[in-house]
Amino acid sequence: MASAEFLVELGRDSHRVHVGCGLLEDIGGLARSAGLASGRCALITDFNVSRLYAKPVLENLECYGFHPQLIEIAPGEHSKSLALLEQVYEQLAGAELERNSTIFALGGGVVGDLGGFAAATYLRGLPVVQIPTSMVAQVDSALGGKTAVNLRDAKNLVGAFYQPRLIVADVAALGSLPEREFREGLAEVIKYGAIMDEGFITWLEQEMSQILARETDHLAEIVVRSLRHKATIVERDEREGGLRKILNFGHTLGHALEASTAYGSYLHGEAVAIGMAAAARLSTRHAGLPAYDTERLRKLLAAAGLGTDLPGGWLTGDFIRSLRLDKKRRGDEVEFVLLDRLGHALTRKLTIEEIVKGAEA
Ligand SMILES: NC(=O)c1ccc[n+]([C@@H]2O[C@H](COP(=O)([O-])OP(=O)(O)OC[C@H]3O[C@@H](n4cnc5c(N)ncnc54)[C@H](O)[C@@H]3O)[C@@H](O)[C@H]2O)c1
Ligand SMILES: [Zn+2]
Repeated sequence: MASAEFLVELGRDSHRVHVGCGLLEDIGGLARSAGLASGRCALITDFNVSRLYAKPVLENLECYGFHPQLIEIAPGEHSKSLALLEQVYEQLAGAELERNSTIFALGGGVVGDLGGFAAATYLRGLPVVQIPTSMVAQVDSALGGKTAVNLRDAKNLVGAFYQPRLIVADVAALGSLPEREFREGLAEVIKYGAIMDEGFITWLEQEMSQILARETDHLAEIVVRSLRHKATIVERDEREGGLRKILNFGHTLGHALEASTAYGSYLHGEAVAIGMAAAARLSTRHAGLPAYDTERLRKLLAAAGLGTDLPGGWLTGDFIRSLRLDKKRRGDEVEFVLLDRLGHALTRKLTIEEIVKGAEA
């Protein structure tokens, strides 16, 4: 597969997704085909991505009659702040954007979430084009319409559901991603297989060496299959009423692990991989997932270079402490996403005791 495109069907908010190689050199054409008005617009990106990819994007936009103002932010999670958002608003104002001017968000999940939220709110909403460049952004954050910034102690607390007008994922950009960030993104890819597509798990098992070698066709296949799966869920549950919760497979323990290590030791996907391996063990105990499949999932995560073991003593220490403080917890129970078979997820309430007993390797 060299390239693919499909529609995310959300009524008036429906939009196309393009996945392929070399698409950064055709952003202007794709934006015009999506019906976006040329003229003034903004390209938000971070310094790392700007150095690598802003030039071809700016040039192509100009070719199609767009006049982009480049807005660069510092790379990293701390840029998802209200202070930085205010600076972005000031620059949008300086560029004299109007109600039909487009914001192009070129970068990883940080740029996508911040740029998306700026677009959702500036002038009460401007069209936004998501141009994800990291693995996490290409297989997950660019699609779904969740945009947000962080408060000092709480991630993603200020945000909006706001759908992009177009998503363009150029898999060639994944070639420059640092190894750790690349592998981290594979955790979310494996997640889609685990919760909704056993055939995808089988394909990932067979093709992992080509994937790790970042062969373009394999990357396109991964991104398309992941985004199609996410689109299927978002189409049925745009605002996270029920079904969308299964996307949190591996995330209850993963988030707790990230939080208890002050977001210093694990990248998000690394923590989610460990969380998924533990959730699979819990699934064998509480949802009938065959032990053989729990081991299959663990092996696949390991083949992708991801850890699968919780740190010793963590469950009975930091984890219990963090759950006791968790305001969303009802009584002694936590809602958990489990698998009853590989490729199918369900939610179950588990007691803290059941989690601690069943999640240990
Ligand atoms: N909105 C959602 O549904 C959703 C889903 C998942 C994650 N997120 C958010 O996404 C963020 C994490 O995203 P991320 O992992 O992409 O982080 P990121 O945006 O910080 O990117 C990671 C690093 O890779 C660099 N980078 C990006 N693309 C590159 C490329 N092609 N070549 C070289 N370097 C590149 C960036 O400059 C950065 O240093 C978090 O803030 C998270 O909350 C949002
Ligand atoms: Zn995640």
